Amino acid sequence: MTYASIDDLQTTLADAGYVADRPLATALFLALKLEKPLLLEGEAGVGKTEIAKTLARIQGRQLIRLQCYEGLDVATTIYEWNYTRQMLQIRLLEAQGAAHGDQAIRDIFSPEFLIKRPLLQAIEATGELPPVLLIDEIDRADEEFEAFLLELLSDWQISIPELGTLRAERPPTVIITSNRTREVHDALKRRCLFYWIDYPSLEKEQQIVAARQPGASARLSREVVAFVQELRKVDLYKLPGVAETLDWTAALLALDAQSLSEGAINDTLGAILKYHDDIEQVRGPKARAILDKVTR
Ligand SMILES: Nc1ncnc2c1ncn2[C@@H]1O[C@H](COP(=O)(O)OP(=O)(O)OP(=O)(O)O)[C@@H](O)[C@H]1O
Ligand SMILES: [Mg+2]
Repeated sequence: MTYASIDDLQTTLADAGYVADRPLATALFLALKLEKPLLLEGEAGVGKTEIAKTLARIQGRQLIRLQCYEGLDVATTIYEWNYTRQMLQIRLLEAQGAAHGDQAIRDIFSPEFLIKRPLLQAIEATGELPPVLLIDEIDRADEEFEAFLLELLSDWQISIPELGTLRAERPPTVIITSNRTREVHDALKRRCLFYWIDYPSLEKEQQIVAARQPGASARLSREVVAFVQELRKVDLYKLPGVAETLDWTAALLALDAQSLSEGAINDTLGAILKYHDDIEQVRGPKARAILDKVTR
């Protein structure tokens, strides 16, 4: 699933509501062309997860998502036997007087008693096109999982003792995201193409608002984006991402605001700033100063 050109991919993404600047479109273009995993790092809410979802959508491919967290293990990422169903089956066989013997054991360890988790689903996918595998927020998983992933990314096979080795016919397209709460290992990075998604430029963010909040007037979106861009220069505990810009626009629209005003800002700061200290710092004089600057 490659594209004729980077422009082509960029346009297709834009048509699906995802604004990718040229460098990001290039990274994705190359990942598809070279069939390499794409590791996306960046601050929260800059569109890392969304690009994987959009890619699956524009190519009509299945999206398989593995949300990472601490303590992720085989049972939650690859497979687990469905013990309840196995127990019921044993009871049933017992009632029929046929619970014992090798055949019965083999039967309860057959695929129908297997609960397939995302990585196994990705390997076993049989659709016309290989799926898009989104390994989201890898930095939250522990290092053992990363080591396991490393292996998987190189040979695309998984061994299940009772069933044997399962191998992917066509490896999925892999997008890995990280919020960089810790560094991803060099060994994993080496297998991936890497791209850092920064906060968007003013122009890019305006395009995103136009794509995602078409109800906002040109004036409102211009002022909102300019305000958020200024806010990102303030020394805050948590800077607003694109997600916050979109939420804020939605909040302002819900209040029928056609443009930014001090009152509207103070009423809706909670849509862009999520820490009390940040809100206290911005509310009042600072908000007024930024408003003056962006509406001058
Ligand atoms: N370039 C973009 N084009 C269109 N929408 C975007 C873009 N970037 C971000 N968004 C929107 O912003 C929101 C947040 O994006 P997303 O969830 O992908 O962020 P993220 O980088 O994965 O954040 P987190 O690290 O918090 O998971 C989504 O609603 C998404 O639609
Ligand atoms: Mg995300």
